[in-house]
Amino acid sequence: MILVLNGPNLNLLGSREPAVYGRETLEDLENACESWGADLGVTVTCRQSNHEGNLIEWIHEAAGAGFRAIVINPGALTHYSYALRDAISGQDLPVVEVHISNVDARESFRHVSVTAGVCRGKISGLGFVGYRLAMEYLVEVSNQN
Ligand code: DQA
Repeated sequence: MILVLNGPNLNLLGSREPAVYGRETLEDLENACESWGADLGVTVTCRQSNHEGNLIEWIHEAAGAGFRAIVINPGALTHYSYALRDAISGQDLPVVEVHISNVDARESFRHVSVTAGVCRGKISGLGFVGYRLAMEYLVEVSNQN
């Protein structure tokens, strides 16, 4: 079971800065993640929140709820949320950070991730495909332990 978390403003996918994030919606993204999960033989649960505390609590509860791994796009929280960083580092599930846009090619404040350092790795700039690649990796490592 993989938990896919999307943070602030990702509910606006499709209408928000389409030149940066594309025309597909959050629902399209979540449907794609569920179908990629089915291909990989794993159940995927997707959640989105504009509130830092919800994301933190979902991370706290993930292992107890039976999840084996987490994919997270923390949105702008990536760049400043030490609380989210601490939530990720305070639990044992493998986590991969994903960004739809290439954050390193954008404003300098987006070049900093305070969360990536406590994740297994970070995928940025590959659009929705980044979520699939993150899940492929997590299925592989979760099957090994
Ligand atoms: C984002 C990049 C962040 O800088 C931004 O604040 C987002 C989306 C991405 O997926 O490219 O909300 O995480």
